[in-house]
Amino acid sequence: MNKLQLTLAVLKPDISLNEKAVSEIRKIILQDNYLFIRTKFHKLTLNQAKDFYKVHEKKFFYNRLVYSMSSGPIWCHILARENAIKEWRKLMGPTKVFKTIYDDPNSLRGNYGVTDTRNTLHGSDSDENAKAEMDFFFPEFDFESWYAKEESQFR
Ligand code: TYD
Repeated sequence: MNKLQLTLAVLKPDISLNEKAVSEIRKIILQDNYLFIRTKFHKLTLNQAKDFYKVHEKKFFYNRLVYSMSSGPIWCHILARENAIKEWRKLMGPTKVFKTIYDDPNSLRGNYGVTDTRNTLHGSDSDENAKAEMDFFFPEFDFESWYAKEESQFR
């Protein structure tokens, strides 16, 4: 097995209280060879959601995004897999749910997404952002030490 990569995967409030959907998604994650490294059931305040999505501050959807993200609890996961960042984004599917109909109906967003904002899942889009986002949700998690000491033990 090649080197494992970490990514942050979040189940948004639109799905996190739906036990059936959460357990279906977990099963799909496991079947796709991810390891669950850390899991946290969490609730963002509005200000924390604003901070997390600061990069989108000027976008037309920012307000609805941050209100939606702080509207209920979320499941936060640190996942490990080969090419976890790219593969998790592929498994999630397109950001805009209407696009899933043509591009990827079997993706997670294709199956569970409701709107462009309530698209059920988040995933980091680069190594740099994965590290920053893990820091945000799991400040106690030592990213460097995991790669140095633990990564090889899972292979
Ligand atoms: P973005 O970073 O573009 O997508 P992704 O989550 O796939 O990395 O956007 C962040 C979130 O912003 C997205 O998951 C949902 C919300 N969003 C909207 O509500 N409307 C939109 O048109 C877009 C592009 C995003």
